[in-house]
Amino acid sequence: MTQPRKVHVKSFGCQMNVYDSNRMADVLAPAGYVETAQMADADLVILNTCNIREKAVDKVYSEIGRVREFKEAAAAEGREMLIAVAGCVAQAEGKEITRRAGAVDLVVGSQNYHRLPGMIAKLREGEKLVDTEFPVEDKFDSMAQPSRAAIAKRGVTSFVTVQEGCDKFCTFCVVPYTRGAEISRPVMKIVADVEKLADAGVREITLIGQNVNAYHGDGPDGRPATLAGLLYRLAETPGIVRLRYTTSHPLDMRDDLVDAHRDLPALMPYVHLPVQSGSDRILAVMNRRHTRRHYLDAVEKLRAARPDLAFSSDFIVGFPGETEQDFRDTLALVEEVNYAGAYTFAYSPRHGTPAADMDNQVPAGESHARLLRLQAVITQQWQAFNASSVGKTVDVLLEKPGRLTGQLVGKTPYLQTVQVMARPELIGRVVPVAITGTGTNTLFGDIVRQHAPELATAGA
Ligand code: SAH
Ligand code: SF4
Ligand code: F3S
Repeated sequence: MTQPRKVHVKSFGCQMNVYDSNRMADVLAPAGYVETAQMADADLVILNTCNIREKAVDKVYSEIGRVREFKEAAAAEGREMLIAVAGCVAQAEGKEITRRAGAVDLVVGSQNYHRLPGMIAKLREGEKLVDTEFPVEDKFDSMAQPSRAAIAKRGVTSFVTVQEGCDKFCTFCVVPYTRGAEISRPVMKIVADVEKLADAGVREITLIGQNVNAYHGDGPDGRPATLAGLLYRLAETPGIVRLRYTTSHPLDMRDDLVDAHRDLPALMPYVHLPVQSGSDRILAVMNRRHTRRHYLDAVEKLRAARPDLAFSSDFIVGFPGETEQDFRDTLALVEEVNYAGAYTFAYSPRHGTPAADMDNQVPAGESHARLLRLQAVITQQWQAFNASSVGKTVDVLLEKPGRLTGQLVGKTPYLQTVQVMARPELIGRVVPVAITGTGTNTLFGDIVRQHAPELATAGA
C-alpha cells in the first residue's frame, strides 16, 4: 500500500476560511491526503488567505517565505512539497501570486476548491496552475462530504456556510470582489449537513455568511426561506443545543429574526452586528445604507425580544473624510449600545474599491490615535461585561480538555471561555457553572452539582 500524502491547511481571515479549510481537507481525503498539524511534514501546504486589509495580504507573502524554507528543506531530503494559495488573496491576485512568489505551485480561488484534486494531479505533470474563475457548478454539491471520524475530530462546535458573497458594496470593502455575488444554499441541503454533524457529536452550529441575515435559500416548499425560517427548522435537529449566526448586516435585521430570538432557546443571545461608524455622514459615504438611528432601533428591538441579549460589532476608524466630530459620534454610539466585545480596525485602502480613490484620506497617525481611544472604551465595556458574570450561574458547553489535568474548557452563551474541573466524558454537554472569577481572556467557575448531581467533577 502506498503511504498517504499529508496536507497542512493554514487559515487566515474570517470564519468562512476556517470552514473552507476543513472542506478542502475533506475534498482531498478521497485523493489520499491526511491532515497534519506540522507544516514541515506536509506534502502539500495550503495557505487559505484573507484580503480584507493591507496587513492581511502582507502576512500572506511573509508566510509564503516561511513555507518556502520548509519546501527547500524537504527538497534537500529528496521530498517534494507543493505550495497552494487559496482564499481571498488567491481570488483577487491570481497569477500575480505565482509571478511574485515563485515557490507557489498552485493558486485556487475561493469558488474552486472542489477542483483541487484534479488540479494537483495536473501539477504532478509539471504545470503551474491558477484557477480563479467563478464556476457555474455549485461547489457545495461538488465537494466530498467529511467522514464521521473527521467531524468528530474537529470537536463539538461547527461552522456551516449557508450564504456566501455580498451584493452590498460598502465603499471600503473587497469582499464583493473576492467572494462574488450573494448566493444562498437551499434549506434542505443545510438541514442534511447539520443532521450529519449532529449525528457525529456536534452540539453547536454557527451559520456563516458574509451577509448571513440576507439569507434567502430555497425552502422545502420551493419558496425562498429567511434566516429565521432556517433557524426554526434547525432548532428541531436532535442533538443540536446551540445555534448562532454571523455576520449580520443591520439592513437585513428583519422582524422574523427578532422573533426567533424571542422564541428559540437554542438561539444564543449574542449577536455580532457590525455598525462600522456612528456618524450618519460617514455611514452614507461608506454606502452602508443604514443610519445610526436604524442601527439603534435594531438593537432596541432585539433587546426587547430577548432582554439578556448582548452585542458585538466591527468598527472602522479613519475612513476618508472622518472628522473628530464623526469619530465622537462613534464613541457616543458605543456608549449607547454598551457592547460585550468588538473588533476595531484602522481604515486600510484597498485597491479597486471606491474609498481608496477618495482624496480626503485621514493621516495614519490620526487613525491610529482614534483606534486607541476607541479600543480603550471597548476594552472597558467587555471587561465590565465579563465581571458582571461573576457570582452568576451560566450554561457552559464543554468543548475540550484544558491545559491542566482534570480541566475542561467551554463557552458561555456569550462565547466567553470558561475553565472548570470536570470529567472528559462531559465534553459535548451543557452544564450549569457558577462563575467565581475572571482572568485576562477567560472565566473560572465550578459546576453546580445540585442542579445536575450526575456531573461530579474530576476531583470529586
Ligand atoms: N459582512 C462581513 C464583513 C467582512 S469584513 C462579514 O461577514 O464579516 C470584516 C470587517 O472588516 C468589516 O466589518 C469591517 O469592519 C472591516 N473592514 C472591511 N474592509 C476594511 C478596510 N478596507 N479597512 C479596514 N477595515 C475593514
Ligand atoms: Fe463588505 Fe459591506 Fe458586504 Fe460586509 S456588507 S462584506 S462590509 S461590502
Ligand atoms: Fe478575509 Fe475573505 Fe473573509 S477577505 S475576511 S477571508 S471573506
